[in-house]
Amino acid sequence: MPITPTTHPIVEHPRMTVIGTGYLGATHAICMANLGYDVLGVDVDARKVAELSAGRVPFFEPGLPEKLKEALASGRLRFTTDFALAADFGDVHFVCVGTPQAADSPAADMRYVIAAFSSLATRITRKVLLVGKSTVPIGTAARLTEMVHEMSPVGSELELAWNPEFLREGHAVEDTLHPDRLVFGVSSLWAEQQLRAAFRPILEEQTPVVIADLATSELVKVAANSFLATKISYINAMAEVCEVTGGDVNILATALGYDERIGSRFLKPGLGFGGGCLPKDIRAFKFRAEELGVGQAVAFLGEVDAINIRRRVRTVDLIRELVGGDLMGVKVAALGAAFKPNSDDIRDAPALDVARMLYLEGAIVTVYDPEANENAHRVYPDLDFADSMADAINDAQVVALLTEWDEFRNADPEVLGQLVANRRIVDGRHALDADRYRAAGWEYRALGRPLSSPTVALAEHHKDSAATPGR
Ligand SMILES: NC(=O)c1ccc[n+]([C@@H]2O[C@H](COP(=O)([O-])OP(=O)(O)OC[C@H]3O[C@@H](n4cnc5c(N)ncnc54)[C@H](O)[C@@H]3O)[C@@H](O)[C@H]2O)c1
Repeated sequence: MPITPTTHPIVEHPRMTVIGTGYLGATHAICMANLGYDVLGVDVDARKVAELSAGRVPFFEPGLPEKLKEALASGRLRFTTDFALAADFGDVHFVCVGTPQAADSPAADMRYVIAAFSSLATRITRKVLLVGKSTVPIGTAARLTEMVHEMSPVGSELELAWNPEFLREGHAVEDTLHPDRLVFGVSSLWAEQQLRAAFRPILEEQTPVVIADLATSELVKVAANSFLATKISYINAMAEVCEVTGGDVNILATALGYDERIGSRFLKPGLGFGGGCLPKDIRAFKFRAEELGVGQAVAFLGEVDAINIRRRVRTVDLIRELVGGDLMGVKVAALGAAFKPNSDDIRDAPALDVARMLYLEGAIVTVYDPEANENAHRVYPDLDFADSMADAINDAQVVALLTEWDEFRNADPEVLGQLVANRRIVDGRHALDADRYRAAGWEYRALGRPLSSPTVALAEHHKDSAATPGR
C-alpha cells in the first residue's frame, strides 16, 4: 500500500487507550503512563480491570507491580470496561488483545481482534489512529482497514497502523521502555508522525525505528519468532544426533556459539520452546503462508515444531530410563510449570506437558513452581502441587528440572539429596552443574549429553538471563 501524504495535524502529546490488558497490554499501558502519557486501559474482563485499578498486576512480571503503583499515583493511568469512554478518550488506540491458536486448526483465532476493532470503530467520531500490536496473520491490517472504514461514522478518516511487539515475558518492563527497535507499519505520513509522537521519549533514546508498509510490519513479528524457534529447534535437532553418536550437545552449542555469525543466543539445548507466542505463531504463519500459496517457503516450520514437541516426549523417555523402564507408581518431583522462569505463564508450557505425560504413565507426580502453581492447578487439576521445592522433592524417586528458575539452579545438591528417596535427576534445561550433582552422588542425565559428560558453561549473552527463550 503506498504511503499517502496528509495535511491533517497530529496530536503532539496523544491520549492513549490500550485495548486488552493481558501480559502485553497491561505492560504497555503501565509503561506508557510512566513515560508521561495519559492512558486508559480497556478490557472485557471486569475482574482484570478491577485488579489493575486496585494496583494489583494479575500475573507475575518482575518490576511491573512497582510501575503500576507509580503510574496510578501519577493520575495518568485508569482502567475501564467502557468502550464508549475509550472511543471518546483516545487520540491513539493500541489494540493488544490475544490471538491464540484456534481450537480446530493451526490458524490464529481472530475473534478478539475483530471484536476489539469493531467496538472502537462503531463508536469513534473523529480522526484518530488505531494501532494493532497483537501478532496477526499477514493481510489482517489491510482487511481491518476496510472493515473499520465501513463501520465507522467517520469512514476513512479512521486510520490503521501496525506496531508489532517484541517484549519478552520476564523482561517486559525493560523491553517496553528500552526496545531493541520499533517497527511502524503505516499507510500515511500522518500515521507515521502520530506514532512518532506516541513513542517520543523512547525515540529520544536513539531507538532504531523501521518504517514499513502494513504487510511487512505484520511479517516482521512472525518472521522474528520463526527465526528464534528455528534456532532453538536447530540445536535440539543436534541434540538428537548427539544422543545416537555419543556427542555432547552442550560442548557443541558452546563451540558453535563462539562463531559470531551464529551467536550463542537461543542456541540453548533442552526441553524446547513453549508459551503463548512461539508455538502458535509458527503454526499460524505456516497456515497463512499455505493460504497465500507460499506454503513451501515455510514448510520447514512444520519440522521446527515437530523437533520441539519431540523434546517433551524424549524427556519423559529419559526419566523412564533413569527409573528402570517403568513409571507406574514412581514418585516424580517436577520442578517448574511455567513455560520459562520469571513468568507465571503456563500457555503451551513444556514442563506441564511432561508432567502430564508422566502422570498418564502412572507416575505419582508432584509439581512445584515458584509462581505458576495456581495457574497450573487450574488447568491441570489432576496433578499434585507442592508449596515448596523441599515438599515437592521429599521422598522423590526421581527429580525432573523442567523450568530453570534460579531457585532450582542455585539449590545445593547435597541438601536436596537428603530429602529424596533416590538421588536421580533429569536436567531438562541443561541448567545445573552436572559435576556437582555427580560429586554429591546423584545420577545426572540431560538430553543430548553422554552419561558422564563433564559440565560445560554454555556461552551466555548478557540479555539471556536464563536458558529458556520465549516471547
Ligand atoms: N505475551 C507476550 O510476551 C507477547 C509478546 C509479543 C506479542 N504478543 C502478542 O500480543 C497479543 C496479546 O498477548 P497477551 O500475552 O497479552 O495475551 P493475554 O491473553 O494475556 O491478554 C489478552 C487480553 O485481551 C482481553 N480481551 C479479549 N478480547 C477483548 C476485547 N474484545 N476487548 C478488550 N479486551 C479484550 C482479554 O480479556 C485479555 O486480558 C497476542 O497477539 C500475542 O501474540 C504477546
